[in-house]
Amino acid sequence: MLNDIAALGEELPVAAHAEETVVRALRRAEEVELFPAAAARILAVADDPDSSLMDLEAAVSSDPSLSAQILRIANSAFYGLSRRVGSLRQALFVLGFEATRNIALGLAVLARGGASGARRAVWRHSLRTGIIAHRAARHLRVDDAGELMVSGLLHDFGKLLMLELGGPPYGEALTTLLGSDEERLTWERQLFGHDHATLGAACLEHWAIPGDICEAVRLHHELALEAVAEHLPAAVVMLADRLEQSGDPGELAPLAATLKLAPKVLHALTEDIAGEEAVLLGL
Ligand SMILES: [Fe+2]
Ligand SMILES: [Fe+2]
Repeated sequence: MLNDIAALGEELPVAAHAEETVVRALRRAEEVELFPAAAARILAVADDPDSSLMDLEAAVSSDPSLSAQILRIANSAFYGLSRRVGSLRQALFVLGFEATRNIALGLAVLARGGASGARRAVWRHSLRTGIIAHRAARHLRVDDAGELMVSGLLHDFGKLLMLELGGPPYGEALTTLLGSDEERLTWERQLFGHDHATLGAACLEHWAIPGDICEAVRLHHELALEAVAEHLPAAVVMLADRLEQSGDPGELAPLAATLKLAPKVLHALTEDIAGEEAVLLGL
């Protein structure tokens, strides 16, 4: 296994230097619009204290597929509304400014992620992690469950960046290399000077994504149980990520207990995920 990893490392035309990797990732993300213009407009509106819901509507509606996804979310089980929301403005009104901004950012940034095999796998895992994180946040009565959803959506954004930088060899490694998370992260650090969690967080910070989201992205593989209380959003994302990957709530018992999530609740977090995923994807 280690020989395979080393061989792949030699193939990859990537300098193992952390700062340079961030600069290259940001440049590449711009080239392929991994951070699209609509996301930048939404951030500008969100940062301006004078902006209104109508300004947000204008920014979101500049991207038609994003508008459709927002409508789907407002009408999905997430918000459990008794009547259907038909217009983008109504949807924004229901979701509220903060939640719309967070969800729109997550979807806009991941919008380019679904094209090919490895990217599609990351996108699907991210979407499911977002759904689970959102459900967990509601159980835990976290104030901003929408922010947890977007943290879940973006938690592996660094993998999309590494796919851009590392090309097919990284994609192949992502889909074929087995081994523990720690082995994969070590391999990423050797190649890029970053693992996907720290690279994703560094780029999202550069784009002024809210701090709690960046922190959850950065810590989703390395949060110790003792630090859970201090970093609740990161702990929820870590739980959602592992639950989505393993599907085995038993493995997560210590983390779930620290979060005070009962085993019954833990099981419910992944129930009928496919149904909600289909709603979000518009299938
Ligand atoms: Fe990850
Ligand atoms: Fe993940």
